[in-house]
Amino acid sequence: MSKLMMLLAGLFLLGAIPKQILLPATAVYADTTDINPNKSSELSLLMRQMYDHAAEARRGVAERKNISYPKSFLNINTAKPTDAQTKNEYYATFADLYLQTLETYESSNDANRVKNYNNVINACLACHSSHCPGPVPKIKKLILPIN
Ligand code: HEC
Repeated sequence: MSKLMMLLAGLFLLGAIPKQILLPATAVYADTTDINPNKSSELSLLMRQMYDHAAEARRGVAERKNISYPKSFLNINTAKPTDAQTKNEYYATFADLYLQTLETYESSNDANRVKNYNNVINACLACHSSHCPGPVPKIKKLILPIN
């Protein structure tokens, strides 16, 4: 099975997660404060911006608008993580998948915005399932339920 097929299967499984775990957070909060400015890696800081963009895009869905992403997100492949061992051989594939879902999301219309938005979040979760599982519960709260 090709890497892409594995990813698609993974995303499908993520989509099959029971709805109750995916229910929206009552409050999606911005988390931009760096408590330890000297300790946060380049990748951590980028991730917080990515989280904030996703939370803003989530609010944008209700207003029927797409939120464009900062081009700094294209640095996801080169930004240095806290621990050099963090990235496994699939990192670049997951990163590219995330960037592709962002591109698709940016050109969303009213008919496909929720789906395209959720695909961005599923791409976050796909990478986090094999890298850095800590933020997974927080990221899951970004998923929008599909009625
Ligand atoms: C290609 C893999 C990948 C993708 C895609 C990805 N992440 Fe991450 N994320 C990581 C890694 C690796 C870390 C750990 C960074 C470090 O330790 O320096 C991380 C860390 C985080 C953190 C913790 C940051 C902190 O405060 O230290 C949050 C929150 C987060 N990611 C949210 C997201 C969200 C939201 C998305 C999607 C919009 C996303 N991630 C997409 C790999 C990814």
